[in-house]
Amino acid sequence: MTHQRSLHKFSTSELNNGQHIPIAGFGTYLISVEKAATLVYDALDAGYRHIDTAIAYKNQREVAQGVARFLQDHPNVQRKDIWFTTKIANENQGYENTQKAVQQISDDTKEFIDYVDLILIHSPKTSTKERLGTYKALQEYVLEPNNGVLSVKSIGVSNYGIAHLEELFHWEGFKVKPVINQLELHPWLPRVGLREYLDKHEILAEAYSPLTRGRRLDDPELLELSQRYNLSPAEILLKWSYLQGFIVLVKTESPKRAKDNLDLLPDSKGSDGGDGMLGLNSEILKVLDKPESKVVLTWGGIDPTLYKDE
Ligand SMILES: NC(=O)c1ccc[n+]([C@@H]2O[C@H](COP(=O)([O-])OP(=O)(O)OC[C@H]3O[C@@H](n4cnc5c(N)ncnc54)[C@H](OP(=O)(O)O)[C@@H]3O)[C@@H](O)[C@H]2O)c1
Repeated sequence: MTHQRSLHKFSTSELNNGQHIPIAGFGTYLISVEKAATLVYDALDAGYRHIDTAIAYKNQREVAQGVARFLQDHPNVQRKDIWFTTKIANENQGYENTQKAVQQISDDTKEFIDYVDLILIHSPKTSTKERLGTYKALQEYVLEPNNGVLSVKSIGVSNYGIAHLEELFHWEGFKVKPVINQLELHPWLPRVGLREYLDKHEILAEAYSPLTRGRRLDDPELLELSQRYNLSPAEILLKWSYLQGFIVLVKTESPKRAKDNLDLLPDSKGSDGGDGMLGLNSEILKVLDKPESKVVLTWGGIDPTLYKDE
């Protein structure tokens, strides 16, 4: 299921609404308000053009501040060159709560950025009424861009399984397709069936925890590959993720690691040796091909895509 095309640091993927999202994203989960603006600035300085935050991370204001500071210092980079994603938390779901949450996003970010590129529903772990009410409110921001609260370019979901997407597609108010489903994805959780479903519906898969939150970097098979091919475990996992065609979100509090995690992509188009494999080979891909594996490392180990309403 690898998507072989020539990838580089500034590659983008086209979404089903015609917008283009940078494939290399910088994640900010667990980054404190004290550090967020500086780490985001450093990530943009390293070359990331896509930043992921959420209301639940309690740092979206500082993340937006980091973007604004970077733009101010780098007049050659424009707001449109940077992708900013945030998410509606579970406790903010439902039609009216979502409107309040979007107001909060606006209050937190408007001093720094004048629109957000993408708002996701953070997880389906609420109820049909709340999920659809949230979606209804989000849809309105895209359909009525001049409503005065906040300009939102795209909407999507996170941690949605097929049942949650089917519920959305069969809802009579459904008008705007989600552009993305942000999911835990790595070799131990490849979600083959869900990805086929997303492909069919032209929804991009965005990988979170591509480094397994650091928990599988000492996996014996991975370490063996790492030694044999002189690639770090993190490098192998991130390259694997890009080769799957994912939009990849990786978090680190170390500016050096942030740079290393991006520098594993070629600087420009066509400079990857031409085979589209980013320096991996078929043996590495075979070892990491675990279509049946279902190891969930986030959300308390319980797969949110399989959530059923109580
Ligand atoms: N939608 C959702 O439900 C959801 C859930 C989880 C995550 N996300 C998003 O996805 C982003 C990424 O996922 P994640 O933060 O869970 O996990 P991740 O990116 O897989 O892993 C982050 C961990 O890996 C370490 N790390 C980073 N680069 C490394 C390297 N080169 N070598 C060794 N270790 C390295 C980091 O440590 P240091 O910081 O110490 O470098 C951190 O402990 C999040 O920040 C968030 O934006 C979304």
